[in-house]
Amino acid sequence: MVVQQDLDCVVVTGGAGFIGSHLCERLCESGAKVWCLDNMLTGAADNVAHLASNLDFHLTYCDVTAGIDVPGPVDLVLHLASPASPVDYLRLPVQTLKAGSLGTLHALDLAARKGARFLLASTSEVYGDPLLHPQPEDYWGNVNPVGPRSVYDEAKRFAEALTATYRRGGSVDSVIVRIFNTYGPRMRSHDGRAVPTFIRQALAGEPLTVAGDGLQTRSLCYVDDTVNGILAAAASGHPGPLNIGNPEEMTVLDLARHVRRLTRSNSSIVFVESAVDDPKVRCPDTSLGRDVLDWRPQVPASEGLARTIAWFAGQAAEDARTRAVPSSEAAPGPEDDASVGVDS
Ligand SMILES: NC(=O)c1ccc[n+]([C@@H]2O[C@H](COP(=O)([O-])OP(=O)(O)OC[C@H]3O[C@@H](n4cnc5c(N)ncnc54)[C@H](O)[C@@H]3O)[C@@H](O)[C@H]2O)c1
Repeated sequence: MVVQQDLDCVVVTGGAGFIGSHLCERLCESGAKVWCLDNMLTGAADNVAHLASNLDFHLTYCDVTAGIDVPGPVDLVLHLASPASPVDYLRLPVQTLKAGSLGTLHALDLAARKGARFLLASTSEVYGDPLLHPQPEDYWGNVNPVGPRSVYDEAKRFAEALTATYRRGGSVDSVIVRIFNTYGPRMRSHDGRAVPTFIRQALAGEPLTVAGDGLQTRSLCYVDDTVNGILAAAASGHPGPLNIGNPEEMTVLDLARHVRRLTRSNSSIVFVESAVDDPKVRCPDTSLGRDVLDWRPQVPASEGLARTIAWFAGQAAEDARTRAVPSSEAAPGPEDDASVGVDS
């Protein structure tokens, strides 16, 4: 499904991150002017370097917790800026709380000033460790408000409350999407999420580390499908919340086996301790998205995983090639990412 929408100018906060970079790419392809705002906390300019030659693409250093502005009219604000993987938000707890609260406040204020539609990238984590399965949008969740994961879960719940309040008050036309586990190219190999971790381990011939007994389930959505869902929600007049995810469910252990098979790896599978408050089940009820957006995921896990593995293998080959070049001739390393091609 390709979403057609006549957009002149779109702001993407967190646009240099994993999902944000795919959104920027798609929006540039559709001819929109794109402001990609990011402070590179967990993103990288490299993720959008291929868009730099497009004169309508603007990568700007911006910490959304400090305030947001861009010149000229804006049709749509896509607010994605926030650490998103457990490794990141547990390492950056205060920044995560600030991104969900202050960052969302500033992004909503920008949308109000510009008369733009606003989309909040919320998360399935608002359902916590769900007691209802699969999770429909009217389920209020089961969240530990003082556990380590609450920095993310509660920040996103606050962001949803803020977005709904601005909408009720009539100042911003908005939609909330609750994104479920998304995977694909440009995930970071050490971001701690299951897909990149298993792929990195399998490609390196290391044991695949499965948390707990591996029987906890996840539903994995390929990034192209998530981007289609986000753009369909933005183009609709619906307020949300809308679940965006793939209802195809698999155990973490099956995922590890799948990755091992697709990479033709001989790695063993070992079991490690689960994280605190790690949800046992996670699967979206996507009937609302199907009905109001006519959206459904198209990419089966075998195909999405194969594309992701090919990308990671390409990155590993590129890294090996860079390491082989004498340091004086080597391309800039990751530590240079934040300064490459970033307007400030
Ligand atoms: N990837 C998933 O499976 C998933 C699932 C549910 C929700 N989401 C949501 O989607 C969004 C994007 O997730 P992602 O997986 O691409 O994560 P990511 O970490 O790759 O991207 C987040 C981006 O936000 C930027 N950022 C963080 N704090 C910022 C700040 N204060 N100011 C400006 N930029 C800031 C980071 O530098 C990064 O580029 C997040 O809001 C996340 O909560 C993602």
